[in-house]
Amino acid sequence: PKVKGLRGYDYYLYQGFWYDPFFLEGIMSVQDRFNPQSTDIFVASSPKTGTTWLTALTFAILTRSRLSGSTTSSLLTKMPHNCVPFLEFQLADQNPSNRDLAIPLLSTHVPYSCLPKSIISSSCKIIYICRDAKDAFVSLWYFLAKMQRSDNVEPLPLEEAFELFCNGIANYGPYWDHVLGYWRASLEFPEKILFLTYEEMKKDTAAHVKKLAEFMGCSFTLEEEEGGGLQKIISMCSFEELSSLEVNKNAEHRTPGISSPIQNSVFFRKGEIGDWANHLTPEMGARLDDIMEKKLKGSGLKLPR
Ligand code: A3P
Repeated sequence: PKVKGLRGYDYYLYQGFWYDPFFLEGIMSVQDRFNPQSTDIFVASSPKTGTTWLTALTFAILTRSRLSGSTTSSLLTKMPHNCVPFLEFQLADQNPSNRDLAIPLLSTHVPYSCLPKSIISSSCKIIYICRDAKDAFVSLWYFLAKMQRSDNVEPLPLEEAFELFCNGIANYGPYWDHVLGYWRASLEFPEKILFLTYEEMKKDTAAHVKKLAEFMGCSFTLEEEEGGGLQKIISMCSFEELSSLEVNKNAEHRTPGISSPIQNSVFFRKGEIGDWANHLTPEMGARLDDIMEKKLKGSGLKLPR
Protein backbone atom coordinates (compact mmCIF):
# COMPACT_ATOMS: atom_id res chain seq x y z
CA PRO A 1 0.00 0.00 0.00
CA LYS A 2 1.07 3.58 -0.53
CA VAL A 3 -0.06 6.94 0.78
CA LYS A 4 0.84 10.55 0.01
CA GLY A 5 3.48 11.40 2.60
CA LEU A 6 4.70 14.40 4.54
CA ARG A 7 7.18 15.50 1.88
CA GLY A 8 4.63 15.16 -0.87
CA TYR A 9 6.05 11.82 -2.04
CA ASP A 10 4.15 8.59 -1.85
CA TYR A 11 4.97 6.64 1.29
CA TYR A 12 5.18 2.89 1.02
CA LEU A 13 4.41 0.36 3.71
CA TYR A 14 7.18 -2.21 4.07
CA GLN A 15 7.25 -4.79 6.86
CA GLY A 16 4.92 -2.70 8.98
CA PHE A 17 6.68 0.68 8.55
CA TRP A 18 6.18 3.64 6.20
CA TYR A 19 8.97 5.03 4.04
CA ASP A 20 9.36 7.35 1.13
CA PRO A 21 11.08 5.62 -1.81
CA PHE A 22 14.52 7.03 -1.11
CA PHE A 23 14.60 5.74 2.47
CA LEU A 24 13.17 2.38 1.48
CA GLU A 25 15.78 1.94 -1.22
CA GLY A 26 18.54 2.61 1.32
CA ILE A 27 17.17 0.05 3.75
CA MET A 28 16.78 -2.61 1.08
CA SER A 29 20.26 -2.03 -0.25
CA VAL A 30 22.02 -2.59 3.10
CA GLN A 31 19.97 -5.63 4.12
CA ASP A 32 22.32 -8.33 2.85
CA ARG A 33 25.40 -6.23 2.21
CA PHE A 34 26.23 -4.86 5.61
CA ASN A 35 28.46 -6.75 8.00
CA PRO A 36 29.26 -4.89 11.18
CA GLN A 37 32.50 -5.15 13.08
CA SER A 38 31.91 -6.84 16.42
CA THR A 39 32.88 -3.58 18.14
CA ASP A 40 30.48 -1.36 16.18
CA ILE A 41 28.11 0.88 18.10
CA PHE A 42 24.90 2.13 16.52
CA VAL A 43 23.00 5.27 17.43
CA ALA A 44 19.41 4.34 16.58
CA SER A 45 16.35 6.57 16.65
CA SER A 46 13.22 7.71 14.95
CA PRO A 47 13.76 11.01 13.11
CA LYS A 48 13.77 14.18 15.23
CA THR A 49 14.16 12.52 18.61
CA GLY A 50 17.71 13.65 19.41
CA THR A 51 19.81 11.72 16.88
CA THR A 52 22.17 14.61 16.20
CA TRP A 53 22.82 15.22 19.90
CA LEU A 54 23.38 11.54 20.68
CA THR A 55 25.60 11.19 17.61
CA ALA A 56 27.73 14.11 18.76
CA LEU A 57 27.96 12.79 22.32
CA THR A 58 28.89 9.23 21.36
CA PHE A 59 31.44 10.51 18.84
CA ALA A 60 32.98 12.82 21.43
CA ILE A 61 33.07 10.06 24.06
CA LEU A 62 34.67 7.58 21.71
CA THR A 63 37.29 9.92 20.28
CA ARG A 64 38.19 11.84 23.46
CA SER A 65 41.41 9.98 24.12
CA ARG A 66 42.75 11.23 20.78
CA LEU A 67 42.16 14.81 21.76
CA SER A 68 45.26 16.06 23.38
CA GLY A 69 47.19 19.27 23.15
CA SER A 70 46.48 21.05 19.89
CA THR A 71 44.15 18.39 18.43
CA THR A 72 40.55 19.56 18.34
CA SER A 73 37.44 17.53 17.82
CA SER A 74 36.05 17.12 14.30
CA LEU A 75 32.76 18.20 15.84
CA LEU A 76 34.01 21.77 15.75
CA THR A 77 34.44 21.77 11.99
CA LYS A 78 32.01 19.11 10.72
CA MET A 79 28.36 18.67 11.53
CA PRO A 80 27.72 15.55 13.65
CA HIS A 81 26.15 13.62 10.76
CA ASN A 82 29.29 14.17 8.74
CA CYS A 83 31.39 12.67 11.54
CA VAL A 84 29.34 9.47 11.79
CA PRO A 85 27.93 7.65 8.73
CA PHE A 86 24.27 6.75 8.47
CA LEU A 87 23.69 3.08 7.74
CA GLU A 88 20.90 3.51 5.21
CA PHE A 89 22.18 6.72 3.58
CA GLN A 90 25.96 6.93 3.24
CA LEU A 91 26.59 3.21 3.54
CA ALA A 92 23.74 2.28 1.21
CA ASP A 93 25.23 4.34 -1.55
CA GLN A 94 28.71 2.96 -1.45
CA ASN A 95 30.52 -0.19 -0.50
CA PRO A 96 29.37 -0.67 3.11
CA SER A 97 32.86 -1.57 4.23
CA ASN A 98 34.10 1.71 2.79
CA ARG A 99 34.14 3.65 6.02
CA ASP A 100 36.49 4.74 8.76
CA LEU A 101 36.81 1.49 10.65
CA ALA A 102 38.90 3.16 13.32
CA ILE A 103 35.80 4.92 14.62
CA PRO A 104 33.30 2.10 15.18
CA LEU A 105 30.24 4.33 15.24
CA LEU A 106 27.22 4.45 12.91
CA SER A 107 23.74 5.86 13.06
CA THR A 108 20.43 4.60 11.75
CA HIS A 109 16.69 5.25 11.76
CA VAL A 110 15.88 1.68 10.68
CA PRO A 111 13.27 0.03 12.96
CA TYR A 112 14.66 -2.82 15.06
CA SER A 113 12.70 -5.49 13.20
CA CYS A 114 14.04 -4.25 9.84
CA LEU A 115 17.73 -4.02 10.78
CA PRO A 116 20.06 -6.21 8.74
CA LYS A 117 20.20 -9.60 10.49
CA SER A 118 23.99 -9.27 10.70
CA ILE A 119 23.54 -6.43 13.21
CA ILE A 120 21.22 -8.46 15.42
CA SER A 121 23.41 -11.56 15.40
CA SER A 122 26.76 -9.81 15.91
CA SER A 123 27.96 -8.54 19.25
CA CYS A 124 27.76 -4.89 18.23
CA LYS A 125 25.83 -2.52 20.48
CA ILE A 126 22.89 -0.21 19.93
CA ILE A 127 21.99 2.99 21.75
CA TYR A 128 18.41 4.05 21.13
CA ILE A 129 16.97 7.47 21.86
CA CYS A 130 13.30 8.39 21.81
CA ARG A 131 11.28 11.42 22.77
CA ASP A 132 7.80 12.58 23.64
CA ALA A 133 5.72 11.99 20.50
CA LYS A 134 4.28 15.52 20.46
CA ASP A 135 7.72 17.16 20.49
CA ALA A 136 9.00 14.66 17.92
CA PHE A 137 6.06 15.48 15.63
CA VAL A 138 6.48 19.25 15.93
CA SER A 139 10.21 18.94 15.33
CA LEU A 140 9.55 16.76 12.28
CA TRP A 141 7.00 19.16 10.85
CA TYR A 142 9.35 22.13 11.11
CA PHE A 143 12.22 20.13 9.67
CA LEU A 144 10.21 18.98 6.66
CA ALA A 145 8.63 22.40 6.14
CA LYS A 146 12.09 23.98 6.03
CA MET A 147 13.37 21.36 3.60
CA GLN A 148 10.28 21.75 1.42
CA ARG A 149 10.53 25.53 1.33
CA SER A 150 14.14 25.29 0.23
CA ASP A 151 12.93 22.96 -2.55
CA ASN A 152 10.16 25.49 -3.42
CA VAL A 153 7.51 22.99 -2.35
CA GLU A 154 4.51 24.16 -0.34
CA PRO A 155 4.70 22.40 3.07
CA LEU A 156 1.83 20.18 4.12
CA PRO A 157 -0.36 22.10 6.61
CA LEU A 158 0.44 21.17 10.20
CA GLU A 159 -3.06 19.76 10.79
CA GLU A 160 -2.81 17.42 7.80
CA ALA A 161 0.65 16.25 8.75
CA PHE A 162 -0.60 15.66 12.32
CA GLU A 163 -3.45 13.52 11.02
CA LEU A 164 -1.00 11.38 9.07
CA PHE A 165 1.35 11.09 12.08
CA CYS A 166 -1.54 10.00 14.32
CA ASN A 167 -2.27 7.30 11.76
CA GLY A 168 1.32 6.14 11.97
CA ILE A 169 2.33 7.64 8.64
CA ALA A 170 5.74 9.30 8.67
CA ASN A 171 9.14 8.13 7.52
CA TYR A 172 10.01 5.08 9.67
CA GLY A 173 6.57 5.30 11.34
CA PRO A 174 4.38 4.36 13.12
CA TYR A 175 6.37 6.19 15.74
CA TRP A 176 5.07 3.99 18.58
CA ASP A 177 6.05 0.78 16.80
CA HIS A 178 9.56 2.13 16.22
CA VAL A 179 9.89 2.90 19.93
CA LEU A 180 8.35 -0.40 21.02
CA GLY A 181 10.62 -2.47 18.78
CA TYR A 182 13.76 -1.11 20.42
CA TRP A 183 12.18 -1.03 23.90
CA ARG A 184 11.29 -4.72 23.81
CA ALA A 185 14.67 -5.64 22.38
CA SER A 186 16.38 -3.62 25.13
CA LEU A 187 14.52 -5.67 27.74
CA GLU A 188 15.53 -8.90 26.05
CA PHE A 189 19.16 -7.93 25.36
CA PRO A 190 20.12 -5.29 27.94
CA GLU A 191 23.83 -5.76 27.33
CA LYS A 192 23.32 -5.05 23.61
CA ILE A 193 20.75 -2.25 23.62
CA LEU A 194 20.70 0.85 25.78
CA PHE A 195 17.34 2.65 25.74
CA LEU A 196 17.38 6.39 26.46
CA THR A 197 14.97 9.28 26.30
CA TYR A 198 15.68 12.84 25.19
CA GLU A 199 13.91 14.19 28.26
CA GLU A 200 15.97 12.17 30.75
CA MET A 201 19.16 13.12 28.92
CA LYS A 202 18.23 16.79 29.09
CA LYS A 203 17.36 16.62 32.78
CA ASP A 204 20.58 14.93 33.88
CA THR A 205 23.04 15.05 31.02
CA ALA A 206 26.10 14.25 33.13
CA ALA A 207 24.65 11.02 34.55
CA HIS A 208 23.59 9.91 31.08
CA VAL A 209 26.89 10.74 29.43
CA LYS A 210 28.63 8.64 32.09
CA LYS A 211 26.14 5.83 31.48
CA LEU A 212 26.74 6.10 27.74
CA ALA A 213 30.51 5.86 28.15
CA GLU A 214 30.13 2.86 30.44
CA PHE A 215 27.85 1.10 27.99
CA MET A 216 30.24 1.85 25.15
CA GLY A 217 33.07 0.26 27.10
CA CYS A 218 35.04 3.46 27.64
CA SER A 219 33.98 4.76 31.06
CA PHE A 220 35.25 8.09 32.30
CA THR A 221 38.07 7.85 34.80
CA LEU A 222 37.81 9.73 38.06
CA GLU A 223 40.51 12.02 36.74
CA GLU A 224 38.44 12.81 33.65
CA GLU A 225 35.35 13.43 35.74
CA GLU A 226 37.06 15.66 38.22
CA GLY A 227 39.46 17.28 35.77
CA GLY A 228 36.69 18.63 33.56
CA GLY A 229 36.90 16.08 30.71
CA LEU A 230 33.31 14.97 31.17
CA GLN A 231 32.02 18.53 31.41
CA LYS A 232 33.96 19.53 28.30
CA ILE A 233 32.13 16.90 26.26
CA ILE A 234 28.74 17.91 27.65
CA SER A 235 29.38 21.57 26.82
CA MET A 236 30.82 20.89 23.38
CA CYS A 237 27.75 18.80 22.44
CA SER A 238 25.17 21.11 24.00
CA PHE A 239 22.53 22.67 21.77
CA GLU A 240 23.90 26.13 22.48
CA GLU A 241 27.47 25.26 21.50
CA LEU A 242 26.74 23.06 18.50
CA SER A 243 24.10 25.34 17.03
CA SER A 244 26.36 28.37 17.23
CA LEU A 245 29.28 26.79 15.36
CA GLU A 246 29.84 28.28 11.92
CA VAL A 247 29.59 24.85 10.26
CA ASN A 248 26.20 24.17 11.83
CA LYS A 249 24.90 27.70 11.24
CA ASN A 250 25.89 28.47 7.69
CA ALA A 251 27.14 25.37 5.89
CA GLU A 252 25.22 22.64 4.10
CA HIS A 253 25.81 18.98 3.34
CA ARG A 254 24.67 16.45 0.81
CA THR A 255 23.03 13.15 1.57
CA PRO A 256 23.51 10.56 -1.16
CA GLY A 257 20.28 10.19 -3.11
CA ILE A 258 18.81 13.55 -2.11
CA SER A 259 19.31 15.97 -4.97
CA SER A 260 19.41 19.27 -3.13
CA PRO A 261 21.89 20.05 -0.37
CA ILE A 262 20.58 20.16 3.20
CA GLN A 263 21.38 23.15 5.39
CA ASN A 264 23.09 21.96 8.55
CA SER A 265 21.06 24.47 10.56
CA VAL A 266 17.84 22.47 10.02
CA PHE A 267 19.12 19.94 12.56
CA PHE A 268 19.20 22.62 15.25
CA ARG A 269 15.90 24.33 15.96
CA LYS A 270 15.12 24.88 19.67
CA GLY A 271 16.38 21.84 21.54
CA GLU A 272 13.77 22.09 24.29
CA ILE A 273 11.29 19.87 26.08
CA GLY A 274 7.61 20.71 25.63
CA ASP A 275 7.80 23.11 22.70
CA TRP A 276 4.83 21.22 21.20
CA ALA A 277 2.51 23.34 23.36
CA ASN A 278 3.45 26.40 21.29
CA HIS A 279 2.32 24.71 18.08
CA LEU A 280 -0.39 22.13 18.81
CA THR A 281 -3.72 22.75 20.50
CA PRO A 282 -4.29 21.08 23.89
CA GLU A 283 -6.79 18.79 22.10
CA MET A 284 -4.19 17.69 19.57
CA GLY A 285 -1.72 17.07 22.40
CA ALA A 286 -4.24 15.01 24.36
CA ARG A 287 -5.09 12.98 21.27
CA LEU A 288 -1.49 12.01 20.60
CA ASP A 289 -0.89 11.28 24.30
CA ASP A 290 -3.91 9.04 24.26
CA ILE A 291 -2.71 7.17 21.17
CA MET A 292 0.75 6.67 22.69
CA GLU A 293 -0.69 5.50 25.99
CA LYS A 294 -2.86 2.92 24.28
CA LYS A 295 -0.06 1.69 22.05
CA LEU A 296 2.51 1.42 24.86
CA LYS A 297 0.08 -0.18 27.29
CA GLY A 298 1.40 -3.38 28.81
CA SER A 299 4.93 -2.79 27.51
CA GLY A 300 6.23 -1.40 30.80
CA LEU A 301 7.39 1.74 28.99
CA LYS A 302 6.15 5.12 30.06
CA LEU A 303 7.66 7.97 28.12
CA PRO A 304 8.37 11.14 30.09
CA ARG A 305 6.45 14.22 28.93
P1 A3P B 1 13.57 20.65 18.05
O1 A3P B 1 13.08 20.70 16.64
O2 A3P B 1 12.49 20.34 19.03
O3 A3P B 1 14.36 21.83 18.44
P2 A3P B 1 17.32 14.76 15.27
O4 A3P B 1 18.72 15.07 15.65
O5 A3P B 1 16.89 13.38 15.63
O6 A3P B 1 17.04 15.14 13.87
O7 A3P B 1 16.40 15.67 16.21
C1 A3P B 1 16.41 17.07 16.06
C2 A3P B 1 15.95 17.69 17.36
O8 A3P B 1 17.01 17.66 18.31
C3 A3P B 1 15.59 19.16 17.17
O9 A3P B 1 14.58 19.41 18.14
C4 A3P B 1 16.91 19.83 17.50
O10 A3P B 1 16.80 21.18 17.82
C5 A3P B 1 17.35 18.99 18.69
N1 A3P B 1 18.79 19.05 18.92
C6 A3P B 1 19.79 19.14 18.01
N2 A3P B 1 20.97 19.20 18.62
C7 A3P B 1 20.74 19.15 19.95
C8 A3P B 1 21.59 19.19 21.10
N3 A3P B 1 22.90 19.29 20.99
N4 A3P B 1 21.01 19.12 22.31
C9 A3P B 1 19.68 19.02 22.44
N5 A3P B 1 18.81 18.99 21.39
C10 A3P B 1 19.34 19.06 20.15
